[in-house]
Order: sequence, then structure tokens, then C-alpha cells
Amino acid sequence: MNQEPDAGGARSGVSRRSFLGGSLAAVAVTPLLTGQAEASAISAATADGVSQVTVRAAVNGTPVTMQVDARATLLDTLRERLDLKGTKKGCDRGQCGACTVHVDGRRVLSCLTLAATTTGHEVTTIEGLADGDRLHPMQQAFIEHDGLQCGFCTPGQIMSAVAMVDNEGGADSDDEIRERMSGNICRCSAYPRIVDSIRDAQQVMR
Ligand code: FES
Ligand code: FES
Repeated sequence: MNQEPDAGGARSGVSRRSFLGGSLAAVAVTPLLTGQAEASAISAATADGVSQVTVRAAVNGTPVTMQVDARATLLDTLRERLDLKGTKKGCDRGQCGACTVHVDGRRVLSCLTLAATTTGHEVTTIEGLADGDRLHPMQQAFIEHDGLQCGFCTPGQIMSAVAMVDNEGGADSDDEIRERMSGNICRCSAYPRIVDSIRDAQQVMR
């Protein structure tokens, strides 16, 4: 099983550490490049030297504007600031897939994504997947196939699978489903039923 952060689709090509360096550098130079309007979106560093940035994003269809620590991950921001705890923190280092959400329909690992990078983008979490009372076909399939045991990995599995089908063309065989979902780990080993769920949901979604 491939657990590398850049395997499958739910990957960030830039490590949090290297991106953080770039992000903080960008915070420092952006006012010089874009003038007062942009500068107003970035507050001065606080007494302890922590830069705050203003994030303007759509989260599950709702516009959100908030000040965040420039170092804050999307995962922690969703869970701790927006109380969207459906997105799970497993490894917090890009290896388990439990934290998978969508940014503009693409699956990303929210533990490796800085909240500051989501300005101007649409973030979707498991809480935003259903259409009112009507579950998404992938959610419905996981229920019908009992594609879970403890359920901890399930939000990440579902978000990853939805983007795999909607955004990446889906999978043409069970082996391909397993390969494309290889970044989402299930400690309960519910894999056979997870594959069954995704195979059936994909037929409805395609
Ligand atoms: S990959 Fe993000 S919590 Fe494990
Ligand atoms: S259902 Fe328990 S970790 Fe996947």
C-alpha cells in the first residue's frame, strides 16, 4: 500500500515546512507588491512574532472571512475555528488520508494545506457533501455496503472517493479503485466493503 503523501490524488506537492517558508516570505513582500488594499488584509505581527492573515473563502458554500495564524493548517482551522469536526486528524503528517477535503473540487490533505492558501477558493468538507437531507451517492453507498467499522477514516475515504470519481475520471476496475484510494488508510481494514461502496457509487455518479 502506498502511503506516500504524493501518491494518488489527495496530495500536496509541497511540504508544509517548505510551503510555510514560502508563505511567510509572501506575507512579507505582498504589501510592497500590491499596495495598501492587499496590505490591509495582512495584519502586523503580534507581540510574539506570529503573523495573522485574513482568509476569505467559501466553506461548504458559505462565505467565510477570518483572521488566522499564517501557520495554521486548513485541518486545524476547520476543526477548531469553524467547528467542522467531521474532518478527522489521524497522522497530521500526510500519511493517512483521514483529513481529506476538497478545494475547488480537488481532493487535498488538509493537514498539509495552509488555511492561508484557501482565499478565493471553495472548500468542501464531509458536512457539505449532502444535498440537504439527501445524502451524496457515495455516502449512501457506504451505508448500504457497511463500508466502515469504527468510522474514523470514513469522512476522508468518502471525500477522497468523490473527488476521484468527479475530478479524476474515476476507476475502471477494483484494482484501480484500490490504487487510487491507496492514500486513505483504514486501520479497521474495511477495504473490501469500501471498494464495494465506491464501485457502486461510481455507477450512480458517472
Ligand atoms: S494525512 Fe492528514 S491527518 Fe493523516
Ligand atoms: S473504519 Fe475504522 S479506521 Fe476505517
